[in-house]
Amino acid sequence: MRLELPARAERFGANLFYQVQKIYELDGGLHLDDEFSSPFHVIQQIPQDKLHEIEQDMAIVIPVKDERLRLLEGVLCGIPHACMPIIVSNSKREHVDRYAMERNMIDTFCRYAKKKYVIAHQRSLELAELFRQGDYPHLLDEEGLVRNGKAEGMLAGIVLAKLLGKKYVGFIDADNFFPGSVFEYSSIYAAGFAQSKTPYSMTRIQWHSKPKVVGSDLFFAKWGRVSRITNHYLNMLLSHYTGFETELVRTGNAGEHALSMPLALLLDYTTGFSIETYHFVNMMEKFGGILDCPYPEVLKAGVEIFQVESRNPHLHEASKGNDHIREMIEYSLAALYHSKLCPANAQKEILLELKRQKIIGKGATPVIAHRYPALINMNFDAANRVADWAKHSNFVPA
Ligand code: GDD
Repeated sequence: MRLELPARAERFGANLFYQVQKIYELDGGLHLDDEFSSPFHVIQQIPQDKLHEIEQDMAIVIPVKDERLRLLEGVLCGIPHACMPIIVSNSKREHVDRYAMERNMIDTFCRYAKKKYVIAHQRSLELAELFRQGDYPHLLDEEGLVRNGKAEGMLAGIVLAKLLGKKYVGFIDADNFFPGSVFEYSSIYAAGFAQSKTPYSMTRIQWHSKPKVVGSDLFFAKWGRVSRITNHYLNMLLSHYTGFETELVRTGNAGEHALSMPLALLLDYTTGFSIETYHFVNMMEKFGGILDCPYPEVLKAGVEIFQVESRNPHLHEASKGNDHIREMIEYSLAALYHSKLCPANAQKEILLELKRQKIIGKGATPVIAHRYPALINMNFDAANRVADWAKHSNFVPA
């Protein structure tokens, strides 16, 4: 890949939030090009061999809930061979067993592709047992099973990736129409990690565009309703502390993102669709130098957050309606509103925004989302004894 160097960044304590990087070539050549040995350039090359090296250590978690099998198959097809897909499904098991259908399709696909994979049902006893034995009961509900929700599926995915010895974990939604964009997202994740100078890093994707049919034409929209609002308030929080207005944060709701395992294990998470916004808030809380940080080694090494603009348009299943959008806005802004870092004037603005959007009424405050403490304190050795997840992964020798 050939992409811009991230020349500008906002620093917030130990966090370095880099500006959005533009990609020049998706395939930037197999090996390092001599021309890049000169320090005077604005573009960097991350050769294919470097991307491949990182992809071997990366799992791609696909959260699924009752999506069309054809779309899920397209997503599998876009994941580079070296990356291990981990499918965490919360699809129906009753009446029509959608999960069994997914398993069949994935198994056949991976046998043909001779690819390892892991699949788990979010509500399975085995997955719940992993958290019980690992002494991380926070994710379990009153039935003793992993709670419903996309964020919860993502957490389960992180834990499976850790048990499989992966160093990086990326997320790609299952309802993506373009395998080419899935391939691009995976390469971008690897490119982010290739640039990183610390063990604690994250790569977030800013979609190039989201095509929509307007009248009889295609319109390539850049910003969704939710991300426009979330980014504005995240930038406001950042500006409040730095004293300089900024628009640098562009990926407040990036469902497509990847984390290095050491960072993934240190962050706290929130439920629902606030999870991606809360990454920013939690990094500012934990590593911003304002609140106490229990991890001095992270403050020393620093945390790097890369934002990269993809080149493929992003096309996914049609929006799930106005209520879904409103819920996403409320949860995203709630993540900011309830943070100890959120100043009173920003809280006031958030309340006004939520009232303007008719999401909350007069006198109400945004929902308090369920929080999950960092996974670092989980007992992975005990969890590992529940099942040999590597054995669960299908592998067909060549
Ligand atoms: N395992 C699991 N469990 N997966 C789930 C669940 C669940 O309870 N609920 C939804 N999913 C899966 C869906 O099948 C899909 O693959 C993915 O999670 C995203 O869910 P959507 O409901 O399609 O989300 P969206 O398209 O509205 O929003 C996406 O994009 C936003 C950015 O615009 C999500 O990725 C958001 O998190 C993101 O902020």
